[in-house]
Amino acid sequence: MSARHFLSMMDCTPTELVSLIRRGMELKDLRNRGVLFEPLKNRVLGMIFEKASTRTRVSFEAGMIQLGGQAIFLSPRDTQLGRGEPIGDAAIVMSRMLDVVMIRTFAHSTLTEFAANSRVPVINGLSDDLHPCQLLADMQTFFEHRGSIAGKTVAWIGDGNNMCNSYIEAAEQFDFQLRVACPQGYEPSAELLAKYGDRVLVTQDPMEAVRGADLVSTDVWASMGQEEEAEQRMARFKPYQVTRELLDAAAEDVLFMHCLPAHRGEEISEDLLDDPRSVAWDQAENRLHAQKALLEFLVEPAYHHA
Ligand code: CP
Ligand code: NVA
Repeated sequence: MSARHFLSMMDCTPTELVSLIRRGMELKDLRNRGVLFEPLKNRVLGMIFEKASTRTRVSFEAGMIQLGGQAIFLSPRDTQLGRGEPIGDAAIVMSRMLDVVMIRTFAHSTLTEFAANSRVPVINGLSDDLHPCQLLADMQTFFEHRGSIAGKTVAWIGDGNNMCNSYIEAAEQFDFQLRVACPQGYEPSAELLAKYGDRVLVTQDPMEAVRGADLVSTDVWASMGQEEEAEQRMARFKPYQVTRELLDAAAEDVLFMHCLPAHRGEEISEDLLDDPRSVAWDQAENRLHAQKALLEFLVEPAYHHA
């Protein structure tokens, strides 16, 4: 099918990504000035959530309403998806009724299978492998505070998870260096490391990763779906807590980001979100603006390029 999808950062060109970030900033400004902008009037977003969410759900739903459209929340519990309807069949039917679909799921193949059968754009709202929408917000946040991220150094501390994988793709697309500090056995995707290895240094030493970094980012130690491993992970990840002291080893003007939800006392110290170097709340807000730019780009590209 010919629809344009956003399943990973690699689905857009670097130029398109930068223009999405700029557009997110423009849409944020319009909203702050109280200007109504409704290019998606009568358009409908379907949101399939197989995992919990606060930010992704609220930002997509509020974003569609602000753009003049509507969003429908779909959980497998009360759709036929939960009773075994093949994902491809659901994609054929839903995409005949909707204008765009967002899916938060476990296996990344659910997204690719849905997309392969969809007439309309499909957006990855997080899979076990990737979380590209969060990276749009993170990149917008860095641009707002510090300008271009090209040539900068980013440190990822903790689990080599879906967020970390998307940071690797972002390093390639936005032209920065990434240092990942994680315990042995918790490295990011070997496939991505093989592809973009020249962008990424993997170490077990958080200090080595953070030294001189312009951005430090982390995430929970046990992601959704890993609840049973949580206890064992707590012990393994203990040396990887991000603290004010660790940030002191980074660049003078370092920014700290966390995609949230945060577990204070685990992956971050109790006080880290209160540190002036943390921009986690701006980052969370930017999910709204960045995804509005994405929705506009996928559903009404004419406005995006206006
Ligand atoms: N960061 C993020 O995706 O948050 P939610 O799980 O609340 O959507
Ligand atoms: N890595 C986390 C991100 C949550 C937004 C998870 O997948 O649960």
